[in-house]
Amino acid sequence: MGTLDNLLLFLHSWLRWIILILLAVGIFNSLAKMQQPLSSVAKKMNLWLMIAAHITLLIGIYQYFFGPKGFVFFRTMGAATVMKDPALRFWAVEHITGMIIAIVLITLTKGVAKKDIAPSKKNKKLLLFYILALIIILASIPWPGRFGDVPLFRGV
Ligand code: HEM
Repeated sequence: MGTLDNLLLFLHSWLRWIILILLAVGIFNSLAKMQQPLSSVAKKMNLWLMIAAHITLLIGIYQYFFGPKGFVFFRTMGAATVMKDPALRFWAVEHITGMIIAIVLITLTKGVAKKDIAPSKKNKKLLLFYILALIIILASIPWPGRFGDVPLFRGV
């Protein structure tokens, strides 16, 4: 694997933590300040969450089509084999599908944040999207031991 691929894998792995932290902050903020309009800090955090998610998406698309885990499994082994093997299916189907759904939810929160509606209504909507995205992301991360030795904290 080349230096660029290593750097992208490093970024993709660490952006997970940024996304998880920003989601947790968003959830906490909407819960704690349900009746208040979004602060400028909360809006900035929401923007950074979307930026982090979109960078992860772009890196992931590259890795999926050009890396060792992903579409290559369909190309070399065929769909029937891939769908029968939990690890192959995870990389070829489940990770990309789950994460894209979560990133769509995160992207939708940007519009919700801008909407001219009552604060409690806005915070409830944000909470719903954030919590759904969080659950899907937690379920779609290759946590250590699930599919081989993917590290929690990848070195360069
Ligand atoms: C919220 C979004 C996402 C999170 C939190 C996330 C998280 C992760 C993590 C933790 C890994 C393991 C990295 C490592 O080995 O250290 C990984 C690998 C991978 N992800 Fe994602 N991911 C996300 C989105 C995506 C998307 C949208 C795609 C595809 C379009 C994707 C494709 C991949 C691929 C192909 C790998 C394997 C890379 C390789 O080992 O060569 N990811 N992802």
